Amino acid sequence: MTSCSSYIVILLVLWSGNKLYANGCYTSIISFGDSLADTGNLKQLAFKTNKVISYLLPPYGETFFHQPTGRCSDGRLIIDFLAESLGLPLIPPFLNDERSDDVVELGQGVNYAVAGASALDSSFLEAKGVYNPMTNVSLRVQLAWFKQSLPLLCANTRDCKHLIGSSLILMGEIGGNDYNGPFFSGKSIDEVKSYVPLVIDTIISAINELIEMGARTLVVPGNFPIGCNSAYLTLFGSQKEKYDPTTGCLIRLNEFAEYHNELLQTELNTIRELHPNVIIIYADYYNALMQIYRSPHKFGFTNGALKACCGGGGPFNYNSSMKCGYAYATVCDQPNTYVNWDGVHLTEAAYKHIFKGVFQGPYTTPQFNSLCPTSISSTGERQNIELNVRNSRFIYRTERA
Ligand SMILES: *[C@@H]1O[C@H](CO)[C@@H](O)[C@H](O)[C@H]1NC(C)=O
Ligand SMILES: *[C@@H]1O[C@H](CO)[C@@H](O)[C@H](O)[C@H]1NC(C)=O
Repeated sequence: MTSCSSYIVILLVLWSGNKLYANGCYTSIISFGDSLADTGNLKQLAFKTNKVISYLLPPYGETFFHQPTGRCSDGRLIIDFLAESLGLPLIPPFLNDERSDDVVELGQGVNYAVAGASALDSSFLEAKGVYNPMTNVSLRVQLAWFKQSLPLLCANTRDCKHLIGSSLILMGEIGGNDYNGPFFSGKSIDEVKSYVPLVIDTIISAINELIEMGARTLVVPGNFPIGCNSAYLTLFGSQKEKYDPTTGCLIRLNEFAEYHNELLQTELNTIRELHPNVIIIYADYYNALMQIYRSPHKFGFTNGALKACCGGGGPFNYNSSMKCGYAYATVCDQPNTYVNWDGVHLTEAAYKHIFKGVFQGPYTTPQFNSLCPTSISSTGERQNIELNVRNSRFIYRTERA
């Protein structure tokens, strides 16, 4: 035998000053949004008000956490996969009684997203007779929470702007509930369409405010194709509706989501021009999910794409009076073969594929991986580590393969 052995470099810890860096790109994730990103805020709000919410009951959480965590899925969400890929811990919810003085944990991210949250203030929809049974938290409230937590977040630094600047800010998805509520209470598409510019303005103002506070990298996701959603298919499906022949989705509602996304992207371009030093990444959740609806079997969704895993029966296994979590609703055996979890939200398996398409694939503008490749736990592109650590002191160890 020759002594020709190969070595692999195992990256242990990247250090910069006394701060633990995950991959040299972002020190933390700061997240705003709704049920697509909530990792436990609504749960805390519901405990405080003794509210019973189906999302907090089994079988929610059954796949990964083995208990309900407040995530609206059977398991992890896109933000969980993102945190993992950046080498960060799961992002704790802002409202968290269990958190004591754990500034280190806070320092690696905080999640302000609340399931059910709207972009617009709750008073806007209430004035139109649309009441949100889940929460009155809006994007403005989440931003107020963020400002309120800055003294704690920045307790260990003299330069709070820098800390915000080195964080990845996940702005959304938000806005979906500004449409869900009105649609589900019978407002016409034309009326709901008139809210879209207001929703976009609200998101854009929040982004501008965060940039003022030091934000340098923001990921802004668009809306999902709601015309493929089990709840929308159940509530809007009829012989008069036009369906996309390849997917079976409702064309009018998908066009509505595209309208929101186009307006959002136009406004993001304006911010990019005004702030050339800020990286604004549009995350195309719509098309990352559409590719799955177009060929579900390719992604392992052998039970089709449109029928929910957990629900109260009917063609799409969705019945608003027998929701997943409540008695009489049934749950499928293999959630990872379904795209849709509970009629409204997706399964962990679907979120994982969307995460891959967006953060490791082509569905971001500019491409997320080109800015700061997620290295260690993702695709094994270890050569990228060299690029990431240019400005950081790092410790590594070589081992015999
Ligand atoms: C939301 O509801 C709570 C409890 O009813 C109330 O105290 C709070 O002021 C409301 N917030 C907004 C923004 O409407
Ligand atoms: C939903 O469930 C209720 C109660 O069992 C039933 O009366 C109703 O017909 C169901 N609706 C649909 C659309 O299946």
